[in-house]
Amino acid sequence: MKIITTIKEMQQEVRQLKVQQLSIGYVPTMGYLHEGHSALIDEARRHNDKVIISIFVNPLQFGPNEDFDAYPRDIERDERIAKEHGVDFIFYPSVDEMYPHELSVSLSVKDRTDVLCGKSRPGHFDGVVTVLTKLFHIIQPDRAYFGLKDAQQVAVVDGLISDYHFPLELIPVPTVREEDGLAKSSRNVRLSSSEREEAPQIYQTLLHGQELIRAGERNTFQLEERLKEKLANSISGTIDYLEILTYPGLRKPDQIEGKIMIAVAVYYHKVRLIDNLIIDVPRK
Ligand code: PAJ
Repeated sequence: MKIITTIKEMQQEVRQLKVQQLSIGYVPTMGYLHEGHSALIDEARRHNDKVIISIFVNPLQFGPNEDFDAYPRDIERDERIAKEHGVDFIFYPSVDEMYPHELSVSLSVKDRTDVLCGKSRPGHFDGVVTVLTKLFHIIQPDRAYFGLKDAQQVAVVDGLISDYHFPLELIPVPTVREEDGLAKSSRNVRLSSSEREEAPQIYQTLLHGQELIRAGERNTFQLEERLKEKLANSISGTIDYLEILTYPGLRKPDQIEGKIMIAVAVYYHKVRLIDNLIIDVPRK
């Protein structure tokens, strides 16, 4: 496994792989790897000749009062995990390497950002598509792997790839959870012990929503209200949003039917957690 810190060297390696006609599976990450990331890496390993991951905490996708500085980082641990999962290259650039000067062209996401994390984190998805555009150009993957834990990100990146003709396939991977149901996240280490204890209630609320839908609930507003009440009563954190939207269109449905997502975000003391459940609801 090679660790590469400059764009130039990464491009040279990619050129070599292309000459040899080897397929490239790519997993973009911000590091502090956990089993969610390794599920993406394993998937990439199964279907490609070479696997490249990037580790880059992208300042552009963090708001001024967000946790860019506090975001957990541990490159040695990440190296070990990447190696164990058969990664061929880690692209690990510095902020100066990726953004040597202010960008003269900016990308801005128009659709699907007025809801959920796009609404709570203005500019977040602009930062995500900007860094991914750079990374896709540098790495030129055949397939790029993204986790459905960030389902809105998957929908936005899908738009980027199709609007701008990136010659790659987006592969969504299901959310990996702790045994108690909490979605794995690099940010979970920033929960206090009592917050960690109650955080599985977030997933329990999503499952409860699924049960109510299975039992016949079709009213979007009523279900949102019932789930918000249940969640608010079972956690000390503050609900940022709990919404039911169509997936991947991310529109508010009048009736719950077709492919929908229940998405939730909760603010704790030092961290904001997100989770979602995508459910196929048969049309009546
Ligand atoms: P990061 O939060 O490090 O996540 C990297 C990838 O791992 C994303 O595709 C994310 O959805 C996936 N992932 C995280 N937790 C997961 C879980 N519990 N189960 C399955 N997949 C999970 O998302 C980002 O970084 C950044 O926005 C990035 C795409 C790298 C752009 O900067």
